[in-house]
Amino acid sequence: MSSRSNPAIVVRGLRKTYWTSNKKGLFRSEKQAVEALRGVSFDVRHGEVVGLLGPNGAGKTTTVKIISTLLLPDSGTALVEGFDVVKQAKEVRKRIGIMLSVEKGFYGKLTGKENLLYFGALYGMKGERLRKRVDELTDLLGLKAMKAENRLFEEYSLGMKARLALARALLKDPPVLLLDEPTLGLDPPTARRIRELVTDLARKEGKAILYTTHNMFEAELVCDRILLISKGRIVAEGRPDELKAKTPGLRLLTLTVRGDGVTVTSAQKVIESIVGIKPEVKEVEPSILEIKAKLSKLENVVDEVIKAVTSAGLEILRFRVEEPTLEDVFIYFTGGGDEAR
Ligand SMILES: Nc1ncnc2c1ncn2[C@@H]1O[C@H](COP(=O)(O)OP(=O)(O)O)[C@@H](O)[C@H]1O
Ligand SMILES: [Mg+2]
Repeated sequence: MSSRSNPAIVVRGLRKTYWTSNKKGLFRSEKQAVEALRGVSFDVRHGEVVGLLGPNGAGKTTTVKIISTLLLPDSGTALVEGFDVVKQAKEVRKRIGIMLSVEKGFYGKLTGKENLLYFGALYGMKGERLRKRVDELTDLLGLKAMKAENRLFEEYSLGMKARLALARALLKDPPVLLLDEPTLGLDPPTARRIRELVTDLARKEGKAILYTTHNMFEAELVCDRILLISKGRIVAEGRPDELKAKTPGLRLLTLTVRGDGVTVTSAQKVIESIVGIKPEVKEVEPSILEIKAKLSKLENVVDEVIKAVTSAGLEILRFRVEEPTLEDVFIYFTGGGDEAR
């Protein structure tokens, strides 16, 4: 058994290129390379949810498939609790639960519960232990409460299918979970239930969870740490608040002040000397002005600015600091949207 103090997932320099053939007329086709991963490295520890956050085509599913032994990398390594995904695939499979956003492999003519019993048997579970585990999981995932456990899979809604897929990933009670866009397209109550469960599984049961999403709001809710992935590379990494702090100039301080133009001009200069960027000034009413200052420094300079403005002779009526959103952070690190390549 591997030590719990070592990272549950260790990924180093993963590269993967897909080759596709482009038809060029009737008999000619041209090979085209898509570099899906261009050297991806990260760790996931037991007890933490790590988000792999990036737009469609960034390389999230490719990363998950390699760690779950479904796809071979061209180079680089991935270890799950110390076992190599290429050389020790069988050991890796014993330790992981996988949930892919497009769930295949369930049997339409079996009920949800029968599907779980079937997969449990396939994983080498049997008897009372298997029945008890299936019972626990249909309860935990709310399938019992929805009276869905004894309905045929082919009659399931998307939300029920997702709940069943997560139940299947948890059957063996694996220490490592790989969840690929687990809430994609789901109704809000199911998405919320899944997010709650994910955080509980990490906090209370110490599971290591890799959670992919293109949804910034969700990443911020669920993840202890976020890896921003763009075009096959991790472009930034940290806790949501750390990532925000790494993006200078995105925090905006707005001061509404009473005073005359001359005083404001001198206050503007003082603020510029503190924050490094000239603030914008707008008159909102006669002798009421709004000063908008981007905070370029990472330290908290708000107190300093307020003190300076007050001693310049302006009366502060209101002040507000707006934090950047994760979306702002993503645009800052990637230069924006399109992952086409
Ligand atoms: N089987 C495949 N054949 C060719 N290209 C692929 C294949 N799977 C993924 N790709 C390409 O690799 C890149 C990364 O894809 P993927 O890992 O699925 O990204 P994500 O999950 O972040 O949307 C994309 O440009 C995608 O079009
Ligand atoms: Mg994907």
